[in-house]
Amino acid sequence: MTWILPTRSGRYVVDPAPRGAGLVAVSWGPDGGEARPPAAATSSFEADLDLLPMEATALGTRNVHGAELVVRRADGLRGARLAAAGEVTVGRDDDGATHLVCPLADDVLGLSVRLHLRTHPGHDVVEKWAELRNDSAQPVELLRAWGGVFTVPAEAGASVGLLGGAWSREFTPFEVELRAGTLSLGSRQGITSHTYAPVVSVTPSGEPGPRYGVALAWSGSWRMTLDAVPFADHLRIAAGPDDESGILTLEPSAGLTTPVLAGVRVEGDADDLAQAWHAYQATLARTRGPEHRPIVYNSWFATTFDVRVEHQLELAAAAAEVGAEVFVVDDGWFRGRTSDRAALGDWEADLHRIPGGLGPLADGVRRLGMRFGLWVEPEAVSPDSNLYRAHPEWAHQVAGRPLETLRNQYVLNLGWPEVEEWVLGTLRRLLGDTDITYLKWDMNRSIADGGQSVLGGDDWSWRHTQAYYRILDGLRAEFPQVTVEACAGGGGRIDHAVLARTDVVWPSDETGPRDRLAIQHGFLGVLPAWTMSSWVTDLPDLLDRDRDGEPPSLDFRFVVAMAGVLGIGADILAWDEAMRERASSFVDLYRSIRSVVHTGRVRRHGSPADGACAVQYTGGDEAGADVGTVVVLAWRRPAAQRTAAGRLTVHLRDLDPDARYRLRGSDVGTSTFTGKQLITDGIAIGWAWGDCDAMILDRV
Ligand code: DGJ
Repeated sequence: MTWILPTRSGRYVVDPAPRGAGLVAVSWGPDGGEARPPAAATSSFEADLDLLPMEATALGTRNVHGAELVVRRADGLRGARLAAAGEVTVGRDDDGATHLVCPLADDVLGLSVRLHLRTHPGHDVVEKWAELRNDSAQPVELLRAWGGVFTVPAEAGASVGLLGGAWSREFTPFEVELRAGTLSLGSRQGITSHTYAPVVSVTPSGEPGPRYGVALAWSGSWRMTLDAVPFADHLRIAAGPDDESGILTLEPSAGLTTPVLAGVRVEGDADDLAQAWHAYQATLARTRGPEHRPIVYNSWFATTFDVRVEHQLELAAAAAEVGAEVFVVDDGWFRGRTSDRAALGDWEADLHRIPGGLGPLADGVRRLGMRFGLWVEPEAVSPDSNLYRAHPEWAHQVAGRPLETLRNQYVLNLGWPEVEEWVLGTLRRLLGDTDITYLKWDMNRSIADGGQSVLGGDDWSWRHTQAYYRILDGLRAEFPQVTVEACAGGGGRIDHAVLARTDVVWPSDETGPRDRLAIQHGFLGVLPAWTMSSWVTDLPDLLDRDRDGEPPSLDFRFVVAMAGVLGIGADILAWDEAMRERASSFVDLYRSIRSVVHTGRVRRHGSPADGACAVQYTGGDEAGADVGTVVVLAWRRPAAQRTAAGRLTVHLRDLDPDARYRLRGSDVGTSTFTGKQLITDGIAIGWAWGDCDAMILDRV
């Protein structure tokens, strides 16, 4: 028996494993393509289940090489020998997906495992996860509870692409050549972290061929391993909740479902891989339209903690004038929050600075024709807060160990039901009492003190993360009009599970435009433009500050922010009239191309490290249909303006070679090209604004 799961451009095929021990991956790729049945044991020194590319399996079923499930029963029985516990079923989900379920069990231990594999004709991703249930009379500890694995061919090793970083340097690409050994990346911080994004790309070395991506949908502590066993000729890529800092325990009859591991295979380059991810991520988003991607004005950088109602309304009037669609009051609006040293947890407006509370402020903003938005950090608590004084036991804490602050704050243990209930209730009250339709949910520290004030609690990250999801899901169901922007001191918590529950994400606190360009370049390589919140600010680059010696123009800053979901975070009251008019004309331009930027197919031409680079968006209306418009946003370094490095001809891709395209704004006839010309000869960037440009071509 062979089971076939069709994807958009191919199929994923599995067979039964020997002795009913699970499933073996047989092939992945175009119909009739790539079939790589791996060598079975060639000597009596080798065990078949260790050599075969098994779908997720347990230590005890596989004994020599890596396994995704590691279990231990309370009496010490360790490992699981999984065997078929029923028929494999392949059905059709409501959304048209093909869904395979393989029931397995270890009757001696008393554990059942249902492996799930799912594909959809609309994209090329294979989703994998597992459901686990303790059928024994004793607790079972899950020392590793990973529900999926991808085995990719790598006879001559592979180049592994990671997105690493630090605060303000997120999504920096790194390449690791892997021939033998295990590469491990992850986070013990209770959030995905700035250090690594939970996604890798794998390009097998040697012949040109396919490339692969694997991503974990989990927003707490996590680990991903890429295992290259010598002479096995493949890489085994698995991931799940972190198995170093956490242990999950299943009480008798209890079960859990592991996070989804998604894998994608493309024939093509890094941008083909990016487009394959974006096609999948479109199925995670509730919408991709402007209703949840408004042009934001956020007052954080203009005021930081000095939030005063008259000043906010002055900023709001200026923001409305330049065309902002929502005005978001960031940190500093609540009682006693005049610095980052106090008040997190006390989520009531500071009546000294906002007399009358949030209602009149929101009304004032709405009278200016904008929506009203608010920043919150619901998981955080300041030691100097009424909440902490009332409930010191609510903070994450390793029993008996003094708490340590990071950014002068602790983290609430959402995994405690009463804390979850309190956080949900607080947010419901805020959203119910005031007409807030945009919520920026921040999370500004890692949970280094993960745990709880009583002993136990090895599952703190699991519980915290599940509660975070429940709160987001509950709010979305009750307040569907509220757009949620996910932030974690920048891009500290971004993954597929967050994408499925929020509308936009804040990739980084770095808004200096040249550094930002590099961060966005990495971001767009795996994540979609319709989620990429990006603001124009007055801040310099943290890293790139002195490289050119010339500050980037306002135009440059706008074109960088227009590459995703445009926002403005500058002190616009300090801008002169000419700057505000300029800003307003960019906002108008952006509105005219927003749907193409958000839903069009993305191609990155060159890199921000070069003298000049561009991003092409081809598409796309709000539903993602191809309306034949192409947007090319381009940037160059000031120094490059005077040299050949600043000239850029972009060979467009994803076009219909036989169609004709006209440069918008040009005279009919003078700037009309065939798709073939634009692909083969390319189009020279005109540098309309010196260090940047936005060229728009319409199919005629
Ligand atoms: C970190 C965020 O990333 C910033 O945008 C801002 O909201 C601050 N927190 C506020 O404390």
